[in-house]
Amino acid sequence: MNATPLDTFLFIALPYVSLFTFLLMTIYRYRQQSFSYSSLSSQFLENKQHFWAVVPFHYGILAVTVGHIIALCIPRGILLWNSHPLRLFILEISALACGLLTLIGLVAIIVRRMTTTKIRRVTTITDWILFFMLLVQIAGGVGIAIFHPWGSSWFASNLTPYLWSVFRLNPDISYMAAMPALVKGHIVLAFLIIGFFPFTRLVHLLVIPNPYLWRKPQVVRWYGRKKP
Ligand code: HEM
Repeated sequence: MNATPLDTFLFIALPYVSLFTFLLMTIYRYRQQSFSYSSLSSQFLENKQHFWAVVPFHYGILAVTVGHIIALCIPRGILLWNSHPLRLFILEISALACGLLTLIGLVAIIVRRMTTTKIRRVTTITDWILFFMLLVQIAGGVGIAIFHPWGSSWFASNLTPYLWSVFRLNPDISYMAAMPALVKGHIVLAFLIIGFFPFTRLVHLLVIPNPYLWRKPQVVRWYGRKKP
């Protein structure tokens, strides 16, 4: 199938605009406002719904993101794994379960931010736009898993070559033209989220406090007057 001018715009121009904005603005924000590089925890404002929203969301999104990265980096390994139907089923069902976990967590995050007055007050327009984009993206991903199954295989064989062609600055959209609308929408929104990333709380992803994993434990003592 031949690529239309719209395909050229969405799968060649948009990815480069998004990736360029991501690189430039992420560095700029880090240099100008490094203290804003956080997701600004709201746990101390509300701590009941917080756990049931943020935790499932993070377990789900991390598993799904790692899955996408593996399919991008070792597509042949995924295709080899999937060559056995039982392993293909296990991978597909696990990915769908993680997608649903992410979706449930995100809905809980949105409900918490809408219904708790204190949290609503500290939620910005940028947060709402981000939550909306993530909601459509994750619901779209779950939709793809249901309506266009075996994504782990066709991602590795069709999307990985396209994505690498973009990174190698030699975009080849022949793989994209024949993709179903839902898949095209998922890719376009992924690039929009990447472009929007530096303006949002998602920057916290780049400052994960890894040293906590190996630094020595810290003992915190409270010095105060003893109660009688
Ligand atoms: C290892 C990776 C990650 C770590 C360590 C991490 C850590 C955190 C922390 C500490 C918070 C604040 C939670 C609170 O309110 O107390 C947070 C919030 C958030 N994170 Fe992550 N995160 C990670 C990956 C991700 C990814 C991949 C996404 C993808 C979209 C994401 C999206 C969000 C969102 C949207 C919030 C706001 C939730 C809310 O407060 O309503 N995070 N994250």
